[in-house]
Amino acid sequence: MTNRDWARRADQLSAQAYSAGEPTAWFDRLYAEGAAGTIEMPWSRTDPHPLLRRWIDERPAVEPARACVVGCGLGADAEFLAGRGWTTTGFDLSPTAVEQARARHPGSAVTYRVADLLQLPDDLVGAFDLVVEIHTLQAMPNPPRAGAARGVASLLTPGGTLFVVQFRDTGVPTQPPPFPLSRDDLALLEVGGVVPVLVGEVDGPLWRAEFVRRV
Ligand SMILES: C[S@@+](CC[C@H](N)C(=O)[O-])C[C@H]1O[C@@H](n2cnc3c(N)ncnc32)[C@H](O)[C@@H]1O
Repeated sequence: MTNRDWARRADQLSAQAYSAGEPTAWFDRLYAEGAAGTIEMPWSRTDPHPLLRRWIDERPAVEPARACVVGCGLGADAEFLAGRGWTTTGFDLSPTAVEQARARHPGSAVTYRVADLLQLPDDLVGAFDLVVEIHTLQAMPNPPRAGAARGVASLLTPGGTLFVVQFRDTGVPTQPPPFPLSRDDLALLEVGGVVPVLVGEVDGPLWRAEFVRRV
């Protein structure tokens, strides 16, 4: 078994899920196989995404408040924000991912919960000063990506900031997932008073983008 075996399994499970018309059903199946040890644990980084760390470090004057990490997976980014003083919620569609995140971080200050961007619970809507979305929208086709993007935007409180990292569509054909995003795909986040601040800043094949909710 190689470290990348989970990626091959992701290809199989996602193809089955797309055929069944359930484009997000494969995430929990993949994490469950990781938890069972039949594949390496997917998306298993333990450090925060370097672009998130850099972005936070560049803003020492920003007072930590309420933060949300969307599609938090195993919790590395949520733990980082909590460590920097943010009152942090991390949510994921996958119950197994949330269980694993809690198990990895006993005593964590992060509130981990199971939630679906496509059917957000009322208490998460409009509740966050900072929303972090890393590699989740690009992990799904459209639909349901536009609905998920609306969900991401809806988490922000007026004046809140959205930080986004996604694979960028460079024109090179790839086998999804992921589905590298165009600038128009990123614009799906510009709903509900959310406007771009720094979209277009590119780091290699990545978008690093910042939005703010004006109203
Ligand atoms: C490519 S993984 C990225 C995980 C993590 N953000 C990272 O950067 O390592 C995408 C994550 O989004 C989650 N996800 C997919 N669809 C979702 C949805 N509709 N609502 C919430 N989370 C979702 C998956 O379970 C998975 O953990």
